Amino acid sequence: MSFNATILTLYPEMFPGPLGISLSGDALERGLWSLETKNIRDHGIGRHKNVDDTPAGGGVGMVLRCDVLASAIDAAVPPDDLRPKLLMTPRGKPLTQARVRELAAGPGVVIVCGRFEGVDERVIEGRNLEEVSIGDYVLSGGEMAAMVVLDACVRVIPGVMGKEASGHDESFESNLLEYPQYTRPREWEGRSLPDVLLSGNHALIDKWRREEAERITQERRPDLLR
Ligand code: ADE
Repeated sequence: MSFNATILTLYPEMFPGPLGISLSGDALERGLWSLETKNIRDHGIGRHKNVDDTPAGGGVGMVLRCDVLASAIDAAVPPDDLRPKLLMTPRGKPLTQARVRELAAGPGVVIVCGRFEGVDERVIEGRNLEEVSIGDYVLSGGEMAAMVVLDACVRVIPGVMGKEASGHDESFESNLLEYPQYTRPREWEGRSLPDVLLSGNHALIDKWRREEAERITQERRPDLLR
């Protein structure tokens, strides 16, 4: 069983983009996950294949039509498809490493990329879309956010990274940010390696790293410690 991603977008040419390179690109070639894109515009209305309209009640911008998006979803996703259907939007629930792990352990994801000022609320309800945000800032569309979700999922799919790398304590798995890393040279521009890292005492090194992780988390993300 592999992880299958279906992306609904008005810009299918943006994919695979960076996902075709490096770790995720190699995994794609190795068949550890798959990616298909569907163009929402194929379900647009009339000769001009319209997908959006002005907001009911007035206001600026354009809203993605519920009938168009529902038709695109229904054509791409069979009724017995068990994959969660995500809608990328800044008003969604913030993505966490825990949700990434859950998604990566399942059959894959369907991701709807929003554009314009939003999506008609009725299709969010009617097709049970899970609204997901990747952070408190606004992108011009959901495509890059969808890539972020997929990148985060793919790297934790079994077999994508070596055992050493995927098992190792990472930021957010332990609710601590990572301790500082160093490598050669021993001296650089007057800065030397912390003595403890040269001590060969692994208990002491572990203790130092834990304390550094706690200090950095306290400084930068005290919310993670609560
Ligand atoms: N679309 C636009 N901004 C977004 C964000 N911050 N997260 C997810 N999707 C988005």
